[in-house]
Amino acid sequence: MTIDLAALPHDFLWGTATSAYQIEGAVAEDGRSPSIWDTFSHTPGKIAGNDHGDVACDHYHRWREDIELMRQLGTNAYRLSIAWPRVVPGGDGPVNAKGLAFYDKLVDGLLEAGITPSVTLYHWDLPQALQDRGGWPERATAEHFAVYASAVAERLGDRVGHWATLNEPLCSAWIGHLEGKMAPGLTDLTAAVRASYHLLLAHGLAVQAIRAAAPDAQVGIVNNLSTVHAATDRPEDVAAAMRMDGHTNRWWLDPVHGRGFPADMREVYGVELPEQKGDLETMAAPLDWLGLNYYFPATVADDPAGPAPHARSVRRIGVPRTGMDWEIDASGIEALLLRLTQEYGPRKLYVTENGSAYPDVVRPDGTVDDPERQDYLTKHLAACASAARQGAPLAGYFAWSLLDNFEWAYGYDKRFGLVHVDYRTQVRTIKGTGHHYAEIIRGHRDRAARAA
Ligand code: FCB
Repeated sequence: MTIDLAALPHDFLWGTATSAYQIEGAVAEDGRSPSIWDTFSHTPGKIAGNDHGDVACDHYHRWREDIELMRQLGTNAYRLSIAWPRVVPGGDGPVNAKGLAFYDKLVDGLLEAGITPSVTLYHWDLPQALQDRGGWPERATAEHFAVYASAVAERLGDRVGHWATLNEPLCSAWIGHLEGKMAPGLTDLTAAVRASYHLLLAHGLAVQAIRAAAPDAQVGIVNNLSTVHAATDRPEDVAAAMRMDGHTNRWWLDPVHGRGFPADMREVYGVELPEQKGDLETMAAPLDWLGLNYYFPATVADDPAGPAPHARSVRRIGVPRTGMDWEIDASGIEALLLRLTQEYGPRKLYVTENGSAYPDVVRPDGTVDDPERQDYLTKHLAACASAARQGAPLAGYFAWSLLDNFEWAYGYDKRFGLVHVDYRTQVRTIKGTGHHYAEIIRGHRDRAARAA
């Protein structure tokens, strides 16, 4: 399959993505305090194999080597996240100079290698100290986040132009507080809805904080969205699909675009929002870009007795799946890019994550052959290019992930990297898909150079 990349702009960002807790390790070094993920992963039974992020990819010490890998892949951008518990170990209060210094060096290293950093301020690692004071269900957490955001933007804003406030607030709120499968591991609808509200408030406050510290910053938010299909055309299932769309997509997009929280979902949750005057305006601060993380589509049926949104996922038979057991449907990424374009009118769109896990092995000749991942990447990039041809203002694509890493509740068992990591030796090996990605990037760059 060849991908027609003609519709992608010449300055397209070709990137990879990671997040702090998934790769850094060094959890007790240079003043970092525990986050809710340290606590959760050290709670027996929460993570496959009782894995945790104590060492992970040891990126905290091997970041130079990892930048060299990005260079070998030919990428010109890198999406990283900053660990709040490194920068403000108490959650609020004093800034830890050593924590900031790490990111300072990393950013300089990226810029020297010609790689544009795209910084996400929150990829789920809330300081445990704030969880102990109530966490995201409490308004104060949003206020502390803005202070932390401002400390980071003041330090890095002279060199970092791309900022995201939150990664996938859906996971923090719904998976962390309602389904209990991610930190902090609660199953409480009221806590979950309050958390969702304060996360979006935190986003809005952080947008202001970043802009105040770095007036030229390009600021956005990263959401994981899904296309949602009804399992049958029964009216009950169609209504369930509408609720799941509200739960997964509209609840996160509407407030940020000045539309408030969707009325139908407020009714479904039946939880009073901790609203204060002016909050909705804060949440709706105009953005420079929207980030889409896309992995799989959802098919749902009515589930009146189940938890909100009373819609259960239905497993479709006979469809291709990744090693996560996630259904593969590249048309979903195209549909979502077009939906965002048409319904929300973003200035720019980035695919901030997209990728697939498979059980890779390093062969005796030292190579990793991963044709299924290569196929996943090719098809999704082709779908992105098709959305761009139809008018989606797509400005970059970040493959998840640069490295195999700590895949949250799945531990180290699921490998999403373009680069294989041997966790025993920390040896990195670029997989076949990494080489393939490099070729695609080269092709696009050559075409841009010819056109110039
Ligand atoms: C996303 C997360 C990312 C990674 C991928 C597979 O939901 O943002 O950290 O775990 O899924």
